[in-house]
Amino acid sequence: MSSSSADPSSKLPLKPIPGSYGHPFFGAIKDRLDYFYNQGRDEFFATRVQKYHSTIIKTNMPPGPFIAQNPRVIALLDAVSFPVLFDSSKVEKRNVFVGTFFPSVSFTGGYRVCAFLDPSEPSHTSLKTFFLSILASKHNTFIPLFRTCLSQLFTDIEDKISSQKKAFFNSLSDATSFSFLFRLFCEKDPSSTKIGSKGPTMIDKWIALQLAPLATLNPPSFLKYLDDLLLHTFPFPFFLVKSDYKKLYEAFYEHSAPILDKAESFGIKRGEACHNLVFLACFNSYAGMKTFFPTLIKWVAQAGENLHTQLAHEIRTVVNQEGGVTFQALDKMTLTKSVVYESLRIEPPVPFQYGEAKKDMVVHSHDASYQIKKGEMIFGYQPFATNDPKVFDHPREFVGHRFVGEEGEKLLKYVYWSNDRETKDPTVKDKQCPGKDLVVLLARVFLVELFLCYDTLTVETKKGIGLESSVTITSLSKATST
Ligand code: HEM
Repeated sequence: MSSSSADPSSKLPLKPIPGSYGHPFFGAIKDRLDYFYNQGRDEFFATRVQKYHSTIIKTNMPPGPFIAQNPRVIALLDAVSFPVLFDSSKVEKRNVFVGTFFPSVSFTGGYRVCAFLDPSEPSHTSLKTFFLSILASKHNTFIPLFRTCLSQLFTDIEDKISSQKKAFFNSLSDATSFSFLFRLFCEKDPSSTKIGSKGPTMIDKWIALQLAPLATLNPPSFLKYLDDLLLHTFPFPFFLVKSDYKKLYEAFYEHSAPILDKAESFGIKRGEACHNLVFLACFNSYAGMKTFFPTLIKWVAQAGENLHTQLAHEIRTVVNQEGGVTFQALDKMTLTKSVVYESLRIEPPVPFQYGEAKKDMVVHSHDASYQIKKGEMIFGYQPFATNDPKVFDHPREFVGHRFVGEEGEKLLKYVYWSNDRETKDPTVKDKQCPGKDLVVLLARVFLVELFLCYDTLTVETKKGIGLESSVTITSLSKATST
């Protein structure tokens, strides 16, 4: 790591924030077109960092007119300034979960669910306490349940490879994630409820309508204005997914009675608790896993056979020593743990974070300090923070053992995927993901199952429509040793 890391007390020169918003309407549209079509996301930010010689800049963020009233943000694009977004005393997180716009509450039963609440709102405390307590009560279910789901996943992948020579990973992974989540919260296989096998498709539609303003169908250039008009100009109405959402809600309501009873004991009404549970399972968890698992398998597969051999060796040795896949065994797998963190670092599943300045403040990058005024919207583009070359050597390279050992572990505080540092735990007073430990655990178990059963694999990947990569497994070699 280089020597110029963060020191909040350092006396860096105070500079005006560079960048430009342009004309209130045309400036926002120009930035939107650059972001989606003319440049693309990474290029959009990289060119501005270069142009203004700063990792803190002014810019507009999509969607802008007519969906977002104010697209103007101050973008944080380095590892040092980014964590101001985790400080609930400095930033307001009310209604900023998806950015500068707020999807209609019709999508969530008329409620502002937990993810849209600022920690200063009393219902954030009760809902997050409720979530943390559900997760704690399910602790012993995580490993055996996920292993059961994964064994089905690998059977399905093998079947596809033997019949079609390849297996499209995303849809199989989505089905696994949903099955795991429904069984975790409702203790029932979703296919034996009224949802049947349609859960992932129903959720995908429900999420797509809410997040369309942030997406593109990646059309050929001549169709870009149509794509822009269709997705970024007016919000999609809820009625298009009303019946799907109703089915999901009813299935959760019917089968999660013990959890809803618990919510009532926390003073949360049953209906509000159930809409929050649907959002927790289907948006926070499922959508996160929809992006993360393809990313994980993509980077691990592409890292090559050498890493696969090392992982298989570590995993098989520890499982044999410990007599099974237990929390203690997983904790001993230092390379496996590091590979999971490296995947979350190199391509964080949720790349955007927002917060409105609660007061005037000074934020600094590696090189300078900048004044941010109360009411200004702060935006962090996380891939630039966790690929900051002043913190990580060869940041764009996937280095499997990056977080191994004492020096490696020191870097964990710069891994921000959960909306805070990896070295911190979520509380009701902040907006850190309460599923943080579960996500890391599931990713480790995923790698363990993969390398207990197989020696190596190859994949083909391309950019997906949403945030996720599209991954196809082209070969999977059965384990030759135990
Ligand atoms: C790979 C999977 C996941 C990813 C990538 C992820 C990521 C995140 C991120 C980045 C945030 C902060 C959003 C913001 O306010 O800017 C968040 C919040 C949240 N996540 Fe996760 N998450 C995942 C899985 C889960 C799971 C499994 C649960 C629970 C079972 C969960 C529950 C929540 C909740 C309730 C919030 C809102 C927290 C609050 O309001 O204080 N997430 N998650």
